[in-house]
Amino acid sequence: MNNTGVNKSSNTIAIAVSGLSHAYNRHTQPRPIIKHLDLTVKCQESVAVVGRSGSGKSTLLNIIGALEPVQSGDVSVLGNTLTGLNDSERTALRRHHIGYIYQSFNLIPTLNVADNITLPLALIGVKTSQRTAALLPLLDAIGLSGRSEDYPDVLSGGEQQRVAIARALIHQPALVLADEPTGNLDAQSGRVILGLLNELVTNQGSSLVIVTHSLEVASQANRTLIMRGGQLDEVDPSPVNGSFAW
Ligand SMILES: Nc1ncnc2c1ncn2[C@@H]1O[C@H](COP(=O)(O)OP(=O)(O)OP(=O)(O)O)[C@@H](O)[C@H]1O
Ligand SMILES: [Mg+2]
Repeated sequence: MNNTGVNKSSNTIAIAVSGLSHAYNRHTQPRPIIKHLDLTVKCQESVAVVGRSGSGKSTLLNIIGALEPVQSGDVSVLGNTLTGLNDSERTALRRHHIGYIYQSFNLIPTLNVADNITLPLALIGVKTSQRTAALLPLLDAIGLSGRSEDYPDVLSGGEQQRVAIARALIHQPALVLADEPTGNLDAQSGRVILGLLNELVTNQGSSLVIVTHSLEVASQANRTLIMRGGQLDEVDPSPVNGSFAW
């Protein structure tokens, strides 16, 4: 363990998962969701994860994002073995180095758009003036300039999603975990968001794991993996005879 230090060189490994298994209890019986799963994601790499609803994609992202404990197997994120971290080290890893775009947005209802987006900077002690400086171009990029005073309950689903994405990117994390980040967006807004995510990978050398049901999104990643039977397999996201290979 290196105490949540990170190295973003392209030949280093951002995520190393080996022999990961995970089960949820159902009527007191364990129900396995992830079974001996292996995954390696390099720094500066983008990986799309596809798969049927309920196959375990969000569960995997939650484990990698240190939100769900590792039950069995080894998970190393940005050089940190998750089982070796205590609570405050896990929190530090998340706050400083991971941007998480939740499938259900998870905006804070009592904070306006500006405060939701800049929350990651506030949590690591960045001054208000610097928070505002980081906020304004990002608000513009997501098409929500002029909406910074609004609260989540007056935003459309797609607007909430864009705020959640900006919040995940504002601290320029080394790793972005994006759970269906374009699921509520029209095609044009989706492209803008993908542009922002890809920019982070290209310009900041970050890594991206993006869960998606969209072939257009998957085909922009360096690799596409499909979650089935509790494991990940490499897959070609190009269409076959007008439909897709999975
Ligand atoms: N906290 C939990 N307790 C019990 N079962 C859970 C829990 N979280 C997820 N599951 C179950 O684990 C399975 C995988 O869920 P998960 O959310 O990872 O799927 P997913 O691939 O992300 O699906 P979707 O594409 O619909 O988002 C589902 O059957 C779900 O009901
Ligand atoms: Mg999911």
